Amino acid sequence: MKYFITGATGSVGRQIVNQLVEQNAEVTAMCRVPENSNLPKEVQAVKGDLTDGNINKQIFEGVETIFLFPAEGDIRPFLRTVKEAGVRHVIALSSLAVSAHFQRDLNSFSNKYHLAVENAVREAGLKLTALRSGTFANNLLAWAPTIKMTRSVFLPFPDSAQALIHEADIADCVVALFAQPAKWGKVYELSGPKAITQREQVEKIGQALGVPLNCHRVTTEQFTSSVSQFMSTEIIKMILTYWEETTLQPDMIRTGYTEITGKTGRSFEQWAEDHVGQFR
Ligand SMILES: NC(=O)c1ccc[n+]([C@@H]2O[C@H](COP(=O)([O-])OP(=O)(O)OC[C@H]3O[C@@H](n4cnc5c(N)ncnc54)[C@H](OP(=O)(O)O)[C@@H]3O)[C@@H](O)[C@H]2O)c1
Repeated sequence: MKYFITGATGSVGRQIVNQLVEQNAEVTAMCRVPENSNLPKEVQAVKGDLTDGNINKQIFEGVETIFLFPAEGDIRPFLRTVKEAGVRHVIALSSLAVSAHFQRDLNSFSNKYHLAVENAVREAGLKLTALRSGTFANNLLAWAPTIKMTRSVFLPFPDSAQALIHEADIADCVVALFAQPAKWGKVYELSGPKAITQREQVEKIGQALGVPLNCHRVTTEQFTSSVSQFMSTEIIKMILTYWEETTLQPDMIRTGYTEITGKTGRSFEQWAEDHVGQFR
């Protein structure tokens, strides 16, 4: 089987590629700049942009399924080309916000963005397997600068609790799905195996580092001004609402990882150990 991976230089995509290479699989990775991709030598890196339908169809020769990174922009021309090239099935990275279990999800940035990606796949006439993920543990890498400088994290809702998912768990699902056609065409909801508060998340990163870390409460205004140069107002609002609500009701645990892999997902402690170098 030929594995076709987009977003292969990203946090999830790189995990997928590495797992497949370990299994000696034949992997094609589509990258915007293959020469800078720094992928394993066994991988065939091909040039392509997800927002450009003008792509050489030959790169899809022998490909039945692709892993789709949900790129920003109009991916419909790309998907039309994929379909014309003979691909049948797309495993798409999506978001739990599309399931809209909570009022806050409706019309949120993530809901609109990922729903558009899912719809684009269906409208192109491709079979869609959607991996609707909850919050990535990798988001906490944003804490690295203040941890490195002050051994502290500054948060408006430190008692909010999230079931953060390890990027390797998402990769496990993608790799497992490629080999299980009976599980295609469905929606899977993914989360980490346990919800823990942000105070505990800080503490566990400290344990991995071997130094105690401080968690300081700040106002939502202070938080907003500290991140406003990196995030849009819409995204900041979405995050603050999510944190406020998960203070009262911790994230629910989603079962997609076990449905697909038959295993239990990696713990937050595992994620902290795997990323400790990024906090040093
Ligand atoms: N953070 C969360 O809590 C969360 C939760 C649910 C879903 N998500 C979704 O997960 C995604 C982030 O995943 P990630 O962490 O793996 O991403 P990432 O580390 O930011 O990597 C992005 C990847 O996508 C590629 N890419 C971006 N635009 C492209 C384009 N137009 N054409 C081709 N390749 C393109 C990049 O390739 P280049 O090398 O060319 O730059 C890179 O490989 C987002 O869509 C986000 O909404 C996130």
